Amino acid sequence: MATRSQHETARSQNEHSRSHNEHEVKATQINNPDGFQPEKVRNISSLMNGILADVFALYVKTKNFHWHMSGPHFRDYHLLLDEQGEQIFAMTDDVAERVRKIGGLTIHSIGEIARLQRIHDNDHEYVEPQEMLRELHADNMSLVESLRAAHKVTDEAGDFATTSLIENWIDESERRAWFLFEATR
Ligand SMILES: [Fe+2]
Repeated sequence: MATRSQHETARSQNEHSRSHNEHEVKATQINNPDGFQPEKVRNISSLMNGILADVFALYVKTKNFHWHMSGPHFRDYHLLLDEQGEQIFAMTDDVAERVRKIGGLTIHSIGEIARLQRIHDNDHEYVEPQEMLRELHADNMSLVESLRAAHKVTDEAGDFATTSLIENWIDESERRAWFLFEATR
């Protein structure tokens, strides 16, 4: 026959497990505010966080080249890259917040950006102005490719808001690539 204290232990374990389950339900509700399936949240978040890391890398490189620009077209290129840097930086908050809105986790640190980025840094002391523009053109086009791939996934998942934002980001990136391309011809 169970002693009173064993009964109390069992009851407290039941209560503990009930409250544990309630916590899990709450966690699911908090982590899944838009009602997307966990697998879709994982897929979309992972794609968007890769894009976010690339956008930060591209932002820093665009500012790097803005700061280190030289030559006869200095003023034009310096200002062009400043404009592009502003547009790229404006993307970061929207990308990160889309991930949070669908219930995913986003980037926490510079270290995480470095681990996820696919657009490479350029730490060279001197880069030819035309080479800077060519490299940024290629980087913007690789961002366009990643955005097109993400668009397929968000579209199939029924994540219309992310899909619609991605369409604007593709248009902006293609515009940056267009300016960079025309300036190198
Ligand atoms: Fe500046």
